[in-house]
Amino acid sequence: MLILGIETSCDETAAAVVDDQRRILSNVVLSQIEDHRPFGGIVPEVAARAHLANADAIISRAMQDAGVGFADLDAIAATTGPGLIGGVLVGAMSAKAIAIAAKKPFVAVNHLEGHALTARLTDDIPFPYLLLLVSGGHCQLLICEGVGRYTRLGTTIDDAAGEAFDKTAKLLGLGYPGGPKIERAALDGDAKRFALPRPMSGKPGCDFSFSGLKTSVRRCVETLGHPPNDQDVTDIAASFQAAVADSLVGRTKNAIRTAQDAHPGLAHLVVAGGVAANTAIGDALRSLAEKNGLRCIVPSPALCTDNGAMIAWAGLERFRLGLSDPLDFKARPRWPLDPDAPAAAFAGVKA
Ligand code: KG4
Ligand code: ZN
Repeated sequence: MLILGIETSCDETAAAVVDDQRRILSNVVLSQIEDHRPFGGIVPEVAARAHLANADAIISRAMQDAGVGFADLDAIAATTGPGLIGGVLVGAMSAKAIAIAAKKPFVAVNHLEGHALTARLTDDIPFPYLLLLVSGGHCQLLICEGVGRYTRLGTTIDDAAGEAFDKTAKLLGLGYPGGPKIERAALDGDAKRFALPRPMSGKPGCDFSFSGLKTSVRRCVETLGHPPNDQDVTDIAASFQAAVADSLVGRTKNAIRTAQDAHPGLAHLVVAGGVAANTAIGDALRSLAEKNGLRCIVPSPALCTDNGAMIAWAGLERFRLGLSDPLDFKARPRWPLDPDAPAAAFAGVKA
């Protein structure tokens, strides 16, 4: 079985071909970082126009790299949400057009399900498993029970973890995107110099919060009494990264307990999304998993950040269960994996 997957929900225009032997035949990702850098963050309209300009060429490249034609495909999958709607529409319409022209089924993929199922592409793990999804747009803990079957244990009540990295980097003048810049700066820093809070520490449940941490970093800079020098920046970066790592570990620890109660045979913790590329955070979560008898799986950075292979794979998992979607399937700016999940405490919930 051969599936083309198209991803355009954020700031990567991506397409890939995968097969049911878990082989990635091609995986082409065009980052828009340079388009957004002057604005210090992602501008939805800029993203949509860039997807429109590049989608055709990226899809052609993915087909060429895989050495296949549209007639060889079994289905065409595309992200149909959640995400920036202008971009989602570009990828979804491209996929539908190919599906019509090649007379192939169309599979609508939830971007979050793409992240959630990647560990089955890379490591062939069985359900159920616990997933910590930490990206620029999402911070969630989910039990993955099957294709289309997720129980959300927690989500962020304000910012996503990656968003906190990006905003803190901006505050420190490190530029965009913030995650990799903070990680690099933190290497030379003293994580103990600034006592930053560990948000939600000791509280029951698995919801996250990062906006208070961001405010604490701002206060920290203000109390220096001078513009931060290189040493200040590296120390703040290290202190911030340690606080995020502790917070993620604390909430994931609660989630492991809940997930193991619900599924005594639970064997895996999967960490996915752009923030999973952070070595210090990955190490902290790996150590937590081991202490609790779980194997920790962190897909390679190229498969943690947004890509087409994860969408092609999620499409394949759905299609081999007999699932496909009508061509009038509507793009969805919001699309929770667990529609029955209780809203997170407080306001500003990100689904
Ligand atoms: O999954 P992703 O590529 O896009 C979505 O948000 O869906 O994640 C991007 C986020 C950004 O906020 C970026 O700063 C963060 O992941 N990130 C990192 C690292 N690399 C990327 N955060 C911490 N450490 C990193 N090494
Ligand atoms: Zn993503």
